[in-house]
Amino acid sequence: MSDRPFAVGFIFGVLPVLLSYIKGWVWFPSELSWEDKGLMILCAMIVVSNYLNEYLQWYPLQYSKFAPEGGVPARLGWFLLYFIPMVAYVLVWNYLGASTEPYDLLMLGLYCAHFSKRCLETLFVHKYSKDCVLIAVIEIATFYSLGAVTTAYSLHSLSGPERHSFLDNELRVKIGLGVYCTGQLCNLAHHYILASLRSPGKYKYVIPSGGLFSLVVCPQYAGELLSWLGFGIVGMSYGAFINYMPMVAYLSARAHHTYRWYGQKFEDYPGKSTFKLWPFVY
Ligand SMILES: NC(=O)c1ccc[n+]([C@@H]2O[C@H](COP(=O)([O-])OP(=O)(O)OC[C@H]3O[C@@H](n4cnc5c(N)ncnc54)[C@H](OP(=O)(O)O)[C@@H]3O)[C@@H](O)[C@H]2O)c1
Repeated sequence: MSDRPFAVGFIFGVLPVLLSYIKGWVWFPSELSWEDKGLMILCAMIVVSNYLNEYLQWYPLQYSKFAPEGGVPARLGWFLLYFIPMVAYVLVWNYLGASTEPYDLLMLGLYCAHFSKRCLETLFVHKYSKDCVLIAVIEIATFYSLGAVTTAYSLHSLSGPERHSFLDNELRVKIGLGVYCTGQLCNLAHHYILASLRSPGKYKYVIPSGGLFSLVVCPQYAGELLSWLGFGIVGMSYGAFINYMPMVAYLSARAHHTYRWYGQKFEDYPGKSTFKLWPFVY
């Protein structure tokens, strides 16, 4: 397979958002407030920054296979960087009036379910080969918390009849929930496969097999992206997609470097003929 450029992965990733928009499944306020404009600009800036820092490697995040041994115990570091953003989301939801409308409760539930799953995986599924670098824990917790604050705020801005009728479009909600759950299961299954490659005392990197690893290098990332896409489709507000766009940029870049890393580390790496993130596309 020829090494397809980042643009292919990114464009394919954002295509479902475009289709949702064409279908009328993405809601924008009739008049954009300065906060709305600020959020959109921030989202675009993070997409560009993820491209520069991760794909072009200006300042890549230092964790997992791309990091040296750190000083923060792995489970503690990973747990904190998933737990803090969840708390941030709940705090903002509470600050904005702790709405118990079905819309707010559903989105709160989906957001917390995502991060609770990650916390539980950190404690019970992953087998880490190294401790975390402190600065990476701070950076990732800050990055996710920024996502939590902007998501909670922008979902709150969904107003008018759309807020009350969002469950009326059953097809959209069912598709959104289906995509969200499929993504979470795909992510969990491949994390489980990765963990099962390691046995106590033998925390080496090996060539992953099983599940969708024969089709793509990082199926766990594809699962992560599907979850955020489903979250966006259910949430309908443009703010529900604010997590998805930067993550497409980030994980496309990360998958690209993981693909190259395997190729350099394992001479017999069969993945040279597979795709990085999206089966048959990128
Ligand atoms: N939303 C986002 O922007 C974002 C960004 C990054 C990650 N994530 C999510 O966070 C998860 C973890 O990120 P990550 O990049 O660390 O994921 P990863 O590479 O999927 O690592 C997950 C676990 O599997 C282990 N592992 C990875 N490759 C292995 C191999 N070849 N052989 C044996 N074990 C292996 C890792 O060990 P080590 O810890 O020893 O490397 C780690 O414990 C991802 O799956 C993704 O869902 C999300």
